[in-house]
This record gives sequence, structure tokens and C-alpha cells, in this order.
Amino acid sequence: MSRSAISQEQVSAQTPDASAGLKPGWGVSPERQQAIEATLANLAPHSGRLTPAQLRSITTDLAKRRELWSDLVVHDPDVRWYLPLHRSNSCDVWLLAWERGQDTDWHDHGGSSGSFAVADGSLVEQYRAPAGRLSHRRLGAGQAVAFGPGHVHDVAHGGQGSATSIHAYSPPLTAMTYYTSTDYGLIARQTVPIDGPEGGRGRGGADTALAKASASAARLTSDALPDGAPGIDELLAEARSGLRRLRPEAALAAITDGAVLVDIRPLEQRIVEGEVPGAIIIGRNVLEWRLDPRSEARIPALARSDMEIIVMCSQGYASTLAAASLRRIGLTEATDLDGGFQAWRAAGLPTRPAQSLG
Ligand SMILES: [Fe+2]
Repeated sequence: MSRSAISQEQVSAQTPDASAGLKPGWGVSPERQQAIEATLANLAPHSGRLTPAQLRSITTDLAKRRELWSDLVVHDPDVRWYLPLHRSNSCDVWLLAWERGQDTDWHDHGGSSGSFAVADGSLVEQYRAPAGRLSHRRLGAGQAVAFGPGHVHDVAHGGQGSATSIHAYSPPLTAMTYYTSTDYGLIARQTVPIDGPEGGRGRGGADTALAKASASAARLTSDALPDGAPGIDELLAEARSGLRRLRPEAALAAITDGAVLVDIRPLEQRIVEGEVPGAIIIGRNVLEWRLDPRSEARIPALARSDMEIIVMCSQGYASTLAAASLRRIGLTEATDLDGGFQAWRAAGLPTRPAQSLG
């Protein structure tokens, strides 16, 4: 098929930013969808959770049925390219193209099982094996892998020429969490929502029913809120109205004068972002118990009503709520670091890598 014929075949733009470094294609025509569904009908039920083995048979089989997708592939040297081929209540199927140097970054599949089969070229999959050990495997054309819901991997172009692969997930992908590889292992960094049930494909049937179900669930959730309950934005504004927050330079001056910087970020975040030398680390979940002068679990040197505590989180949101909570229990000098660790680092103030656990 020529490129002009392809552009007529490809319909309805996809959501543009499923993930950084990914470039979407277009939904496929109704005729093409039917042909793909006919192929899948023999391989997997339309509803229910599919096993990794069933997903593997879908990707392997579709990878061989080149007439269903080969004319749609676009190889883009700048970003990985993808095209949704199919979605039902039980699974979604995607066509991906890869060029030299392109990879996915470490990610999971939001609790979905999955499989991918290489149709052209080769891919290298690094993955987290049992017990957290990292392993890798190279897959050539015709080879496939399948995995359960806990799988975390980083898939990359395998070198030497363009690669094409077919991917299937069950239940259909709704979110993926990206990870950073550190000396401590893989640390979850960010969860990214994937296209909603309808995506941009304009399909009817099960997809429409799913979309309606999610919209009505969202309405129910917000209707159930008690009258006058503040949203998180109001809660934050209310907490900030009572605080004289400190920008990093002012915080450094206060620390020099005897204030204490309390880092409430979780270990995973400190590993990824780094630490401030001299900051006291107190987890958010125990903060009030450590700093309430009446608490048996207090840190005596810090749990004083006149102690100037500067709470720090990553970006200066959670720290505001934490500081407001400390003021309520009587630490009237408590405040927070405006902009959090990220503003401190951006201001060029001292940081260091997270300290080893020993
Ligand atoms: Fe993946």
C-alpha cells in the first residue's frame, strides 16, 4: 500500500503524550479492526483476564500475520512510534516501531499481564527477575516473551536495522509506573495514565460501555462528598495562610541561626533526588509523634514548642500540610521550605547523595 493510501486508512488521532519519547500513530480503519478481531477471536475470549500464555499466542500470531499491520508501520528516528491495533474488555494490542538508540525506560504495566513478539529486527529486554536481580534477554524476529502483573522491564532496540513488535496487555493498560535504576535497586518514580477506554479510536460497543461506566463512577465519587468538604487546593491554601514560608536562601540563614531542617521525604525519593547535609530525617508518618513535646515517642532535643522547625519535602506541598499540623500541636515556630528540596538544589545550596544504609 502506498503512503497516500495509508493516510486514508489511518483514522482518528490518538492521545499525543502517552509517554515522553513516544509518538502515536492513528487508529486503524473499521475494516482492519474487523480483520484483527477475527484473528483474535480464535485466540482469546473478549472478556476476563487473559493469562500470559494467551497473550503470547496473540502477539506471536499477529506478528506472523503481516498483512494486518505491515503497511501501517512508521519508523521514526527521533521517537518510538506506536499504533493501537485493538482493544476489548479483555486486552489491548499495540504495534510498535523501534530505531537505533530507542528504549522504553524502566516501567511496569499497572497490574496488567503482557506479552510482546518481535516481528522484524531485534529487541533487548532488561527485566527484574525474582529476588530483584536484574537480567536481560535478546529477542530476534519470531521470538516473544510473556509476563505477569508484577513484571518491570526496560525494552530497547537491539541494534542493526529497524525493529517492529506486537504488544498485548490484559486487562487493557490504564497506567504505567516508571522506575529509576539505583544502587538500591529499581525505585518507583512516576505513574503515568495511559489512554482512556475510548482512546482516540472512536470505536463503539464495549469501549463505549466502559467509558460510560468510568464517567458514572467519577460522578458518584464526587457526589458522595459531604457538603463543604474542602478540596486539597483549599486545604493547602488554608495551611499556607498561617505560615511564613521560607525560600531556600532564607531557610539556610535560619538554619545558620539555629533552625532545624526536617526532611520528610520517603527513602525512595531521597535516593533518587539526594539529601541536604545536616537535615534531620523524620518520616511523614511519624512526624507528629516525634515532635509533640507530650509524646512518648518524641525526640527530646527537637520536641519543643519554641523550636524553629523547617519542614522539607520534594516540591513544597506535603511539607506545608505537615508544618500546619505541627503548629496545631503547639510548635508555633514550625514552617516549611518553599519549593522543597528541588528549589534548594536549584538554588545551588549544598546537597549530597543519599547516605548508604550501611
Ligand atoms: Fe512494557
